[in-house]
Amino acid sequence: MSGPEIVILTGAGISAESGLGTFRDVGGLWTRVPLEKVATPEAYAADPAFVLEFYDVRREGVRAAEPNPAHHALAKLQASRPGEVLIVTQNVDDLHDRAGAAAGADPADLIHMHGELLRALCAACGHRWDWGPEPMTPKSLCEGCRAASVRPDVVWFGEMPYHMERIADALEGASRFVSIGTSGAVYPAAGFVAEAKARGIGTLELNLEPSEGAEMFDAARHGPASEIVPAWVDEVLGR
Ligand code: OAD
Repeated sequence: MSGPEIVILTGAGISAESGLGTFRDVGGLWTRVPLEKVATPEAYAADPAFVLEFYDVRREGVRAAEPNPAHHALAKLQASRPGEVLIVTQNVDDLHDRAGAAAGADPADLIHMHGELLRALCAACGHRWDWGPEPMTPKSLCEGCRAASVRPDVVWFGEMPYHMERIADALEGASRFVSIGTSGAVYPAAGFVAEAKARGIGTLELNLEPSEGAEMFDAARHGPASEIVPAWVDEVLGR
């Protein structure tokens, strides 16, 4: 089976112009809330009500946001090149999904490596399901085993990101790696560019400014994602 030709990694910067905050920019989420209080299994064990309420607020923000031209451009690229473009997102929002990424193609062409805020995970039995508009509380029950151990299906610090084997296989067979709107501060995603380089494939960064790993890339374009991503997609599609 042949894999995707282009592997695209996205981060919070692609959703910034949809009104969703980034993590490490001035005013970013982790500059306002200590991540060890809300984004670790230990924090959830110590104070589940506080942690769950934090994600309720983020969930409302995601539901109110709309995909921007960068999400739409990537969906267009996937639709024009079925099976050739894999989007790996670190974002827990659903803006790639709502823009139509992987629509009509294999839904697995969009990987949420840090999970999905709008889904629930049972910490007791591992069951996952779509979460509705209601708040998640320590009394919420798993729809599978009925345990009161519900948490958002997001990957916390100290946990293993999802689908790492598929991502490694895709990087192995791809001929291009493109990183969009990510600071390159969090591993393993931050290491994808080194893996791509080791394989000798072309690497491109599209970001507001040079990221922490900027010197690793063969080429870079800097500016708001809503402008530079559609322009790059048009180039790839020869328009
Ligand atoms: P960061 O907040 O670390 O980085 C966001 C990047 O987007 C920065 O390099 C910004 O310069 C850039 N940026 C901001 N606005 C932009 C715009 N309009 N257009 C283009 N680029 C823009 O976010 P991530 O790299 O996504 O993990 O963070 C990685 C992970 O750290 C997240 O998935 C999350 C966080 O902790 C977990 O929660 C497990």
